[in-house]
Amino acid sequence: MQDERILDPEVIEANDDLSLRPSVLKEYIGQEKIKESLEIYIKAALARHESLDHVLLYGPPGLGKTTLAQIVANELHVNLKVISGPTIERSGDLAAVLSQLEEGDVLFIDEIHRLPRFVEEILYSAMEDYVLDVLIGKDSTAKSIRVDLPPFTLIGATTRYGDISSPLRDRFGVIFHLDYYNTKELNEIIKRTALVYNAKIDDEAALELAKRSRGTPRIANRLFRRVRDFAEVKNEGVINLEITKYALSQLGVDDSGLDMRDHKYLKTLIEIYHGGPVGVEALAASLSEEVSTLEDVYEPYLLQEGFIKRSNRGRVATEKAYKHLNYKYMEGFLG
Ligand code: ADE
Repeated sequence: MQDERILDPEVIEANDDLSLRPSVLKEYIGQEKIKESLEIYIKAALARHESLDHVLLYGPPGLGKTTLAQIVANELHVNLKVISGPTIERSGDLAAVLSQLEEGDVLFIDEIHRLPRFVEEILYSAMEDYVLDVLIGKDSTAKSIRVDLPPFTLIGATTRYGDISSPLRDRFGVIFHLDYYNTKELNEIIKRTALVYNAKIDDEAALELAKRSRGTPRIANRLFRRVRDFAEVKNEGVINLEITKYALSQLGVDDSGLDMRDHKYLKTLIEIYHGGPVGVEALAASLSEEVSTLEDVYEPYLLQEGFIKRSNRGRVATEKAYKHLNYKYMEGFLG
């Protein structure tokens, strides 16, 4: 049984439970540096009765960018408005959202790199001077009117820092990079999740899940729910190491948290391209995937765990990848 989406950090399931999200910084596990800084900026903004500087969060999907935005709004005692780059097609859509903000509110724009450029341009004066320039009428009768906005905080999130234009990037006072979580942090998150769901999980099982969650809380929580299902049906609700291993093998998740898609990626790289180096376009074509899917979904974790490397001539499979998939490693293939 192979679920194509089980390890996809971009897929958000209907039951990705909102109750799992911590609502205050103190309950948020990991990303210590970001938490420390945010705590100070929030306190300072509250003390001065000012809005918080605009914040850009970047990093792989599923690491808690939306959750952080919710926490910031909550700790500032203001409203949070959430929108997503690709759903804003016209500048009027963004103008409507901006004009409804109240003083100090947090506007969270997910996938901000996907805002169309002419929509993005509206943000410049809104972020810098809290004004909205709207064009009224057409052609020769067109005129621009200026609308004042209340001070607000924009929190932008992106998986692709390099795709943010520099005029937009320059308008963020604070820029944070979210990192993958380590096993200890994921272990804590899984135990917290078990507590929220009132489910029992033993230490070994939590650690096993943590190791296989690709450094990503969204995946950890999803695997937890699936393993809990197996435990309920086959193990009287007890989540121990045995049922965890059984469930994960049924779900096609290996010891390192790689699934069939990762295996296919590495096998293609090794079998068709002799371990590389190969350009990402050629690899994407062989896998019938978009280049951006390889870059945003498959590769960040494979790179981080040392299964692949990027060289200036393309992707290369490492010795670790050969060993993991039981191929004989030949020194000298590395480009
Ligand atoms: N659930 C998802 N991400 C979390 C985090 N970073 N801390 C606590 N609970 C979480």
